[in-house]
Amino acid sequence: MKNLDVVILAAGKGQRMKSNLPKVLHKLAGLTLLDHVIKAAKSVNPATLIIVTGYAEERVRATVQTEDLTFVHQSQQLGTGHAVQQAVDQIKSSKTLILLGDVPLISEVTLEQLANQSETITLLTQTVGDPTGYGRIVRDEQGHITKIVEEKDASIEEKKIDEINTGIMCVDSSVLKSFLSQMENKNASAEFYLTDIVEYANKNKLSVGAIISSDDMECSGINSKSQLADLERHFQRKKAQELMANGTSVSDPNRLDIRGNLTCGFDVAIDVGCIFEGDVQLEDNVTIEAYSVIKDSYVGEGTTIRTHSCVEGAHIGKRNQIGPYARLRPGAKSSDNVRLGNFVEVKASEIGQGSKVNHLSYIGDAKIGTGVNVGAGTITCNYDGANKHQTVLEDDVFIGSNTELVAPVTIGEGSTVAAGSTVTKNVPPNNLALSRTKQTCIGDWKRPKKINSDE
Ligand code: UD1
Ligand code: CA
Repeated sequence: MKNLDVVILAAGKGQRMKSNLPKVLHKLAGLTLLDHVIKAAKSVNPATLIIVTGYAEERVRATVQTEDLTFVHQSQQLGTGHAVQQAVDQIKSSKTLILLGDVPLISEVTLEQLANQSETITLLTQTVGDPTGYGRIVRDEQGHITKIVEEKDASIEEKKIDEINTGIMCVDSSVLKSFLSQMENKNASAEFYLTDIVEYANKNKLSVGAIISSDDMECSGINSKSQLADLERHFQRKKAQELMANGTSVSDPNRLDIRGNLTCGFDVAIDVGCIFEGDVQLEDNVTIEAYSVIKDSYVGEGTTIRTHSCVEGAHIGKRNQIGPYARLRPGAKSSDNVRLGNFVEVKASEIGQGSKVNHLSYIGDAKIGTGVNVGAGTITCNYDGANKHQTVLEDDVFIGSNTELVAPVTIGEGSTVAAGSTVTKNVPPNNLALSRTKQTCIGDWKRPKKINSDE
């Protein structure tokens, strides 16, 4: 919007969080509170997007920095009115939309609505069951908003008001600037309250309106860790509902965490305690067993990720069996019908169709063909202390248990490596490679006996 600037207040420490991390950098659904607000602000396309920072300023700015943000500095946190005052020189549009860095889930639709109002001040308010901690909206008999009173300054009667100030408002910029210049801090907190502009507007017979939100999530302000956890759960339950509405089976919507974008095909089932981060795509008939963590990955049709597996940056084919306790790291790519079993770690490797690595192995920088069987305890020694090297297992290779494959090395098609071998040289196709000492048996062997210390 051409005639609109947005100011986000993010200078406070957030005393009530009891944390050294600035409040706006705490995360909700994997994204900082401030990032959520910035995302919403960008949706209305403001001419300028201004962020007021103060406490741990460097850290806050470094975390969210992009070219289209304008930062202003508030050296002391003297209140929300004082914070907006710091942004005055940057406000050039006729309207200013003010957002709070600790009210993260404000919706794009609501911001659009606020920005389109023609009142001098339009507040976003909400009627809540428990208004404790919020500023209260005071209305006269005709229902006109006369002022906002903060909890600390409220009378017993005012405290009973259940319509609260969300802190989000859209204000005529020139009026805002004039009010900010005359603002006082005569209140219980000795702070410059932005909310005082409502009273000023009434004195000057300027219009004050409100949009009453019916979505409690978008209005929730975060002041404590407990409120953060509540909002997180609320948000996650909503995500779970959306998934279920599209046909995904979620074993317990209270025990699912989505920290990014999860897309699911038909008949996907997700058991309890799973975490999805970044962009994750699960195709039809995928099953994710309990307590698996999946990040930035693609999972092909019919695949099962068994319990306690960690998958990151992987591309998994159709009908795979992964885990339990598998770890797939970035660049792990499997074809169809692959099995990667318990305590198997795979990094930057391609695994061909129908191949199996079922137990206790490390596969790094490898290229594995089709129909390969990798025995328990196989290790690709891919790192020489300075560089990484590739291991190639051609089609139909069989690797016996407890084998070290010292890369760079290639095992030719159809070859077998005997269990317990350390392979340092390429193996031609259809060979048996064997590099362990020949077994000897010493007859009549007596095991040492324990010496009895009492004697
Ligand atoms: C504020 C509102 C209250 C509203 C509530 C909604 C005022 C006076 N009160 O109260 O009516 O119900 O939000 O959540 O506006 N900030 C600065 N600089 C400052 C002070 C605050 O940048 O000097 C920033 C904080 O970092 C925070 C936001 O403004 O992101 C809100 O400040 P906070 O102290 O949490 O205000 P509340 O007491 O919650
Ligand atoms: Ca707050």
